[in-house]
This record gives sequence, structure tokens and C-alpha cells, in this order.
Amino acid sequence: MKILSIIGARPQFIKCTSLSRAIRKEYKEILVHTGQHYDPEMSDIFFKELDIPEPDYNLGVGSSSHGEQTGKMLIEIEKILLKEKPDLILVYGDTNSTLAGALAASKLHIKVAHVEAGLRSFDRTMPEEINRVLTDRISDLLFCPTETAVLNLKKEGITTGVYNVGDVMLDALEYNIKIAEEKSMVLDDLGLSPKEYLVATVHRASNTDSFKNLSSIVNSFCDVDIPIVFPVHPRTEKYLKQYGLWDKLCEKVKVIPPLGYLEMLKLMVHSRKILTDSGGVQKEAYMLGVPCITMRENTEWVETVEDGWNALVGADYEKIVDSIRNFEGATERGSIFGTGNACIDICEIINGYF
Ligand code: UD1
Ligand code: UDP
Repeated sequence: MKILSIIGARPQFIKCTSLSRAIRKEYKEILVHTGQHYDPEMSDIFFKELDIPEPDYNLGVGSSSHGEQTGKMLIEIEKILLKEKPDLILVYGDTNSTLAGALAASKLHIKVAHVEAGLRSFDRTMPEEINRVLTDRISDLLFCPTETAVLNLKKEGITTGVYNVGDVMLDALEYNIKIAEEKSMVLDDLGLSPKEYLVATVHRASNTDSFKNLSSIVNSFCDVDIPIVFPVHPRTEKYLKQYGLWDKLCEKVKVIPPLGYLEMLKLMVHSRKILTDSGGVQKEAYMLGVPCITMRENTEWVETVEDGWNALVGADYEKIVDSIRNFEGATERGSIFGTGNACIDICEIINGYF
């Protein structure tokens, strides 16, 4: 049996690490990198430090508008599927690479498995929401990370092939956290002491593509007294420079290039709080027990808010500043993302399916 996995953006490299290892114990895996992310610190670093096998194909699609980027992927993925004839394709998350893979395969009657199925923000202005809804609709196996995701699918009438396996990012985190603690010197390199700094990430289109939102975020970061470390996504760097906000930010905040996963884990686990609009970082904050301030109006990871570990503040200056000063998170955490066995469970379900 042959499984073809499609990845292309930073979170997908992290999501595929543990599952790819598990899959290769039993099946032949063909790895396709769409090239959606291509800077060394957005792509190569993850393959090197996480021992992800070299992709069998790199489509090199690069950056462009949604239609052009997704269209290029579709054309190239179809050619590979016709050549490789896999039994199943695996797609991860909610990026344009996810949708392109699922669409190309389903038209060729190749079974599609979606890892991180059922997530909904109920905000169709997010490109990711469109990608999620469409991918789930054409998937045969839907691997949900939470019970909420299962219920979301049920409300859309999708009940066949749906499994709550927990979150593959918990498997990845548990495998890598000890390695990160041992290997990463990021705190020393940046001159930081544990629990005396915050970590920030921003890349969501609703924040980067709006001067009002991005300037409000920058102003709030500059007006608090605790050090903030900000590994900047290339999309955000581009807009910060375009809006004339870059120099102001760099004067007050520790602005650094995007980090590898091990460095990022170490930085997050020792931080006092995390500020983000990332889906993956919200989950990791919860898994690591670090209070999270989410600069979005909504989230797919509602359990983290319900449990008191995640504050949704949008891009509102007052709310960001107030939560940096006062939001402390809860005292207890549940096991909303499963037990860290998602990858083994996914392999067993695939086994039973064929
Ligand atoms: C994409 C995903 C988003 C995911 C994020 C993870 C879609 C629609 N969006 O957003 O869901 O959360 O990845 O990080 O699929 N760029 C570079 N170098 C790179 C990659 C990007 O400079 O290696 C710059 C380019 O200017 C590009 C911009 O970032 O136009 C946006 O990249 P793109 O992949 O289109 O979207 P992301 O914002 O990264
Ligand atoms: N991440 C990383 N380096 C960084 C920022 C994030 O390794 O500089 C990791 C983070 O720990 C998480 C994943 O990238 O595992 C999240 O990806 P991202 O925020 O780009 O996308 P999203 O999860 O929002 O789709």
C-alpha cells in the first residue's frame, strides 16, 4: 500500500513529523512538498532538525495570489498522482496546499485522509476556513483532533469516516520537548531569563493586511514593560516595512527571524505568556501550560478559551495591553488534545480501512 502525503507550509512540516515516522514503519510513503513555504527558516530547517525525509517531489510553487498558487499546485499534484497511483493521500490542516491536494486526488477517485479535520472558526473571510470546509467535504477519512471538531462535522452532515484521534501536534511536542530542552540555547543566545519575557507571533491575513490592526498590535507591544521576543513571519515583515512600522517595533521589541521548532518550543515553554494569532501556537501554549493571548476575534480551538488558558482579544490595543498585564490563565488543564497517540491511532484506522 502506497500513501502520498502533501505538505507545503511551516505547520505542516511539524504536523507530519511523527505521523510520517509511524507511516513508514508499515507503508510506503511518497512525500510531496508543494513549495508554498520556501525560505530556509520556513522550510529546510524543519526537515533538518526534525529528521523529516527528503521530499520525493518539490513543486516549487512559491508565493502568489490564492487562485494562482492553488491552481499551480493542482496542476502539478495531478501529474504526480497519475504517475504514482497512491492508494491514499494524506493532507494536513487548512492551507492552500491542503485544498489543492484533496481536490486533485478526489477528482481522480483517490481516497483522501484529512489530518486536523472538522475545525471551524465560522469566519468565511479566512482563507483557511474555505480550505477546511471544502477539504472535509471531499475527504474519506477525517481525523479530528478534538470532540468539538467531530461535532462540527456532524452539524454539516459528515459522520462517515470521522475519528477523534487527538492532535498530531501533541505527539510532535511530546517527542521533541526534551530534545529542545537539551539542545536549544535560545534563552542564553537572546539573554533571556525563564518567565521574564513574552513570545509573540503574528501572520494571520486579518492582522497583517490591515494597517489599523497591525499598528494597534505594534503599539501595544511597544507600550508594555516586559521584554517581548517576536520571531517574525516573512509575510508580517513585508507588511511591517510597507506600513513604516518596522523601525518602531525593532526599537522596543526583540525582533528575530523565524525560529526552528526546537528553538520555538524552548522559547515558549519558558515564557511567561504567549501572544499569537497562530492556530498551532495557541494549542502549544495550552499543551505547555503557558497563558495565551490570541489576537483574533475568533478561534477554532474553543476549548482552550473555555478552559481559561486562552484570552481572545482581537487586534484591540487596550485589550492586548490589559491582558499582557493581567491575564494569568487558569490553574488546571484537561486533555482536550488527546493522549499523544494520534499517529499510532491514525495508522491503525488506515489499516482497518484498507
Ligand atoms: C500560510 C497559510 C496559513 C498558515 C501559514 C503558516 C494559506 C492560505 N495560508 O499563510 O493558513 O497559517 O501559512 O505559516 O495557505 N513568504 C516568504 N517566504 C516564504 C513563505 C512566504 O517570503 O517561505 C511571504 C511571501 O511574501 C508570501 C507571504 O509570505 O506572499 C504569504 O505566504 P503564503 O504561503 O501565501 O501565506 P502565509 O501567510 O504564509
Ligand atoms: N513555529 C516555529 N517557528 C516560529 C514560529 C512558529 O517553529 O518562528 C511553529 C510553532 O511552534 C507551531 C507552528 O510553527 O508548531 C505553527 O505554525 P504557524 O504559526 O506558521 O501556522 P498556523 O499554525 O497558524 O497555521
